[in-house]
Amino acid sequence: MEVTETFAGIALPGHLHTQESLGFAAAFTFRPTDVLIATYPKSGTTWMQEILTLLFSLGDARPAKTIPNWERAPWLEQIYCREALQDTETPRLLTTHLPAHVLAPALQRSKAKVIYVARNPKDVAVSFYHFHHLAKFLPDPSSFDDFLTQFLEGTVHYGSWFDHVKGWLGQRHLLDILYVTYEELHQDLRGTAQRLSTFLGCPLAPGTLAALEQHCSFSAMRDNTMANYSLIPNEIMDHSQGRFMRKGVVGDWRSHFSPEQNALFNRRYQEEMGAMELPSQWPMA
Ligand code: A3P
Repeated sequence: MEVTETFAGIALPGHLHTQESLGFAAAFTFRPTDVLIATYPKSGTTWMQEILTLLFSLGDARPAKTIPNWERAPWLEQIYCREALQDTETPRLLTTHLPAHVLAPALQRSKAKVIYVARNPKDVAVSFYHFHHLAKFLPDPSSFDDFLTQFLEGTVHYGSWFDHVKGWLGQRHLLDILYVTYEELHQDLRGTAQRLSTFLGCPLAPGTLAALEQHCSFSAMRDNTMANYSLIPNEIMDHSQGRFMRKGVVGDWRSHFSPEQNALFNRRYQEEMGAMELPSQWPMA
C-alpha cells in the first residue's frame, strides 16, 4: 500500500523517505568537490546520472555496467542510499528531487556544483503518469485527465513542477549551477557533454564522447540492468505494468493531450512561467 510523507509542504513517497531521511538531506554537509544532479521526476535524471558516470570514468563503461545508478549517484533523501552517501571517493555524484529551498542554504555554504535538468513539462506529465502505473510507491492514477489536473495544481507527489523549476532557476546567481534540458541532450549529446565537461572542469579524454554516445543511448540504457531499474523488486516497481525506460522521446505529449487539455496547460504555463527569465535552451511548453 502506498504511504505518503509530507515534507517542506510537499507529498513524497513514504516507501522511499522518512522524516529522518528527509531531515538528513536538508542538513547534508556538501563537499566542495560534490556534484549534485537536481531534477523534478521524469526530467532525465537517470540519463544525466549515466552521462556523468561516463564523463568521470573518462569513457570507461565498466562502472556504469557494474554498479547500480543509485549507488553511483545516490539520492540525498532516500532511505536506501545512506550507505552509498558515506563514500569517500571524490568527486561524489549525488542526486535529488528536493526543492531548491530545502537544499539551497547548505549548497550556498559549500562550493558544490549543481546540474539542474529540466524537460518540457507536458512530456514530464505524460512520463510521470505512466510511471505511476509502474511505481507501487506512488498513488494509483485514475484517468490521465485527473492526473493532469493534479499535476497542474501541484498536488502530485514531489509537488508542483512550476515551483520546483522556478525555485532552482531562482538560484542561478547564488549557486554554481548549470541548467541542462532533456531536449538538448536529445538534440546534441556531444555538445551538451562538452558543456558539462567545461562546467565540471573534467577534461574529455579521447574516445570519451564516442563511448558516452554509445553507452548513454536510449537502447543501451534500456538494456543496462544497472540503469533501467529492472533490479528493483516487483513489490516496489510492478514490471508487468511497463518499463522505467519507456519511450525516451521528445513530444510524446502530442499523443496524449486533447486540444482542451493543451489549452488549459498553456494557460497555466503562461500564468506560472510567463514572467520568468528562462535559459536560452529552455523547451517551450
Ligand atoms: P519516458 O517515460 O518519456 O520514456 P527520470 O530518470 O528523471 O525519471 O526520467 C525518466 C525519463 O527519461 C523516461 O522518459 C525515460 O525513458 C527517459 N530516458 C532515460 N534515459 C534516456 C535516454 N538515454 N535517452 C532518452 N530518454 C531517456
